[in-house]
Amino acid sequence: MKKEQIWASEVAEKIVRKVRVTAQRNQGKVPYTTVDGRFDDWSDRIWWWTNGFFGGQLWLLYNAYGDELFRKSAEEIENKLDGCLMEYSAMDHDNGFKWLLTSVANYKLTGSEKSKNRALLAAGNLSGRYNPAGQFIRAWNDPGNGHNAGWAIIDCMMNLPLLYWASEQTNDPRFAQIAKLHADTAMKVFIREDGSANHIVVFDPATGENLKSLGGQGYGEGSSWTRGQAWALYGFTLSYIHTKEERYLETAKRCAKYFTSQIPESGLIPVDFRQPEECTWEDSTAAAIAACGLLELKKYVDADEQNMCHEAALKMLRALESSRCNWTTDTDNIVEKCTAAYHDKEHEFAIIYGDYYFTEAILKLCEKDIFLW
Ligand code: GLY
Repeated sequence: MKKEQIWASEVAEKIVRKVRVTAQRNQGKVPYTTVDGRFDDWSDRIWWWTNGFFGGQLWLLYNAYGDELFRKSAEEIENKLDGCLMEYSAMDHDNGFKWLLTSVANYKLTGSEKSKNRALLAAGNLSGRYNPAGQFIRAWNDPGNGHNAGWAIIDCMMNLPLLYWASEQTNDPRFAQIAKLHADTAMKVFIREDGSANHIVVFDPATGENLKSLGGQGYGEGSSWTRGQAWALYGFTLSYIHTKEERYLETAKRCAKYFTSQIPESGLIPVDFRQPEECTWEDSTAAAIAACGLLELKKYVDADEQNMCHEAALKMLRALESSRCNWTTDTDNIVEKCTAAYHDKEHEFAIIYGDYYFTEAILKLCEKDIFLW
């Protein structure tokens, strides 16, 4: 076994040892962050886009280690997500994040027909957000005033795999057709000449005219919100995997080249690659997501590019493991210094998708992963 695989296997052991403890004491919770060392619980806000990540992490670990506790806890979260399925305003473009990592994972691992049904319902709802005028999938909801009816965000690239999966399951190409139409638009309007990405693009929802881009969760318009760059790099890689359309691979490679050129010497990723120099805020989730994307992309590129993807992923993961992971069981989360948005009041705290993507990346490195996207 290569030195880095031995390292990754040791890290995977540390993850599973810790999650055996934290899953036990957090059964039934749907965590977002950690408060006083313990996961909080978003069961009462079950519509929130991050509510599939703990379940997803548990499915990854169930697949790798077989603990029944992981399966049962993941299923409990999936059951709770049913609270969204019949609630119009609780469903948004993040159906992919929520149901790929819970119901699709369950279906892939156990063959549950109930889970398949849930994921198909979520895919149907996601398809319904497609706006043919601008050929994009609407991102978020509003209270009915339509103020963000024309908003699309780069993050949506990660939700498209739910549509590809639905087409495979039903032998009905319309889900994948919508995914490709959105991906083609995203390629044109989000990805800039240098491979960096906009966060939000605003269309006129009636005519489809591209009106403007917004800085969204990054520093500002024209900046380079790192999690958005990671969504772009991983998201286009996933569209390539599902469709084998070369244009998505080319786009993923451009995004990867840009991302890897920006990684600081420390391997720790800022909230925005274009944030002011004096700002030191980090987002560990961007590092973990980009590492997952690079490790997937590596499988489809030539030798030089493989090396670039591999080395960059490893650099970020080693930096996270050695200085941004909490390995004690006093605290439920693993990954620290995650940031939801540059202009939020709070920065650098634990967020559940940091743990999810770090786990996914480490399991990829030691070849114990299951492809959930
Ligand atoms: N998808 C929202 C975010 O990345 O914060």
